[in-house]
Amino acid sequence: MAGSRILVLNGPNLNLLGTREPDTYGTETLADIERQVEAMAAELSVTVRATQSNSEGALIDALHEAVGWAQGVVINPGAFTHYSLAIRDAIAAVGLPAVEVHLSNVHAREAFRQRSVIAPVCIGSIAGFGSCSYLLGLRALVHYLRKLEGK
Ligand code: DQA
Repeated sequence: MAGSRILVLNGPNLNLLGTREPDTYGTETLADIERQVEAMAAELSVTVRATQSNSEGALIDALHEAVGWAQGVVINPGAFTHYSLAIRDAIAAVGLPAVEVHLSNVHAREAFRQRSVIAPVCIGSIAGFGSCSYLLGLRALVHYLRKLEGK
């Protein structure tokens, strides 16, 4: 919906994008990605607030706080994707529609990355398109919210 506010949440080690395993994650920094997300948000007439944390508790707090102001969440939980039941429960608890995004194609990587405990509480997941995963995720979330509104 126009005017929607979206939380863009990034988990552990994503602050190191740009230099972190560039063959897997590319050379764009998190700031580069956030700039692209901001530009897409402007195009879609929504507002985004981006946060990154290396700590599970801070990510959960950000989800709790989002209830007061956001209509949806785009989340890259990093490695927490694969085992954080606490983040999964937080998404379920706040009840905000969430889209899970990943830079890499987690399904084509190690077996432990092929399982997401987060995906079942999300409206959908996008993986493997680098920074474009975030843009596609935002677009999909806004589309979902507009449909919800009947627009
Ligand atoms: C990641 C994939 C995870 O398996 C990994 O732990 C990350 C990044 C991605 O965006 O591809 O930190 O979420």
